[in-house]
Amino acid sequence: SKRILSGMRSSNPRLHIGNYEGALRNWVDLQEQGYHMFCMVADWHALTTMYENAGEVSRNAREVAKDYVAAGIDPVRSPVFIQSHVKEHAELHMLLSMITPLGWLERTPTYKEKQADLGSAEREPYGLLGYPVLQTADILLYKPYGVPVGRDQAPHLEIGNDIGQRFNRLYNVEVFPEYKYLIPQDETRAKLPGLDMRKMSKSYDNCIYLSDTEDQTAEKIKSAFTTPTKIRKTDPGIPEGCAVCQYLKVYSPTWQTQWQEDRDGLRGCMQNKKECTEAINEYFRPMRQRRAQLDDATIEGILADGAIRAREVAQATMSEVRAAMGIY
Ligand code: TYM
Repeated sequence: SKRILSGMRSSNPRLHIGNYEGALRNWVDLQEQGYHMFCMVADWHALTTMYENAGEVSRNAREVAKDYVAAGIDPVRSPVFIQSHVKEHAELHMLLSMITPLGWLERTPTYKEKQADLGSAEREPYGLLGYPVLQTADILLYKPYGVPVGRDQAPHLEIGNDIGQRFNRLYNVEVFPEYKYLIPQDETRAKLPGLDMRKMSKSYDNCIYLSDTEDQTAEKIKSAFTTPTKIRKTDPGIPEGCAVCQYLKVYSPTWQTQWQEDRDGLRGCMQNKKECTEAINEYFRPMRQRRAQLDDATIEGILADGAIRAREVAQATMSEVRAAMGIY
């Protein structure tokens, strides 16, 4: 199969450049290589933490879809759709939840982190535990060749293949082929650091957004973490630990020279920051312009069409699933 499925939660109306480097940039590349991309907005997954603001999650979903298109996803070739518009995701999630051992879910590192954040069991929704099962349903419905994501999603992808293989074994079928994990080779892109050098994440407030203005980008880079012991221009820098140098590596064609000069004390942080801002703004300028031109009606049409095309594939898989289980 030349099909690819991936998605992003709509917990935020805007994607950050970590989402772009870890996943979206690869989606566009795969589309250009001729793969059949299915680009989902995971609104139900966002509800595991934002159930009180379900309306906001739904509105955000439209904005996330705009970022997909602005980044180069062509909705004519690559259906863009919202998870909750394709009810088969809920049906497969429910059926897979019957065959998924509880221990696999309790052991998931992302679950343990979220559980720790929430504190008490009273505040921990049942849906949070099933998060990877819903993600597995998202993926398996499309029987993809691969799933392009950032490094943090690897544990979920492993559970997904395990559940798929367990289904095949239980019902003695070959409904779900194993899929590949398409994570960027370059670790900087697979886990892009934020302005403070922790992982870029909305919850750390350390993000540069795809749709930030050039001035907002400049302001953020000004405040970014650099080599703490590099006070004067002539002090040696450690580019591996400097957020600005990390972004230069991703966005500046001449990063190798810039890194060497930083190490040798031949350039200061001010110059790095100026060149970094220019490199980022230049890279994202066409996307930001495209995004500004996308209106709500256009995106609503794209999503309606995407849901129809996604549903076609999802319904075919559900027929196979029910037949394999003997449900009629
Ligand atoms: P989410 O919404 O947290 O993130 C969306 C994508 O962005 C990647 N990512 C990063 N990559 C590099 N550096 C970073 N700092 C960074 N932050 C985020 C994530 O790895 C992800 O690829 N569970 C998923 C959404 C989902 C999904 C799916 C993905 C739902 N169903 C089916 C694939 C297939 C999530 O929460 O991603």
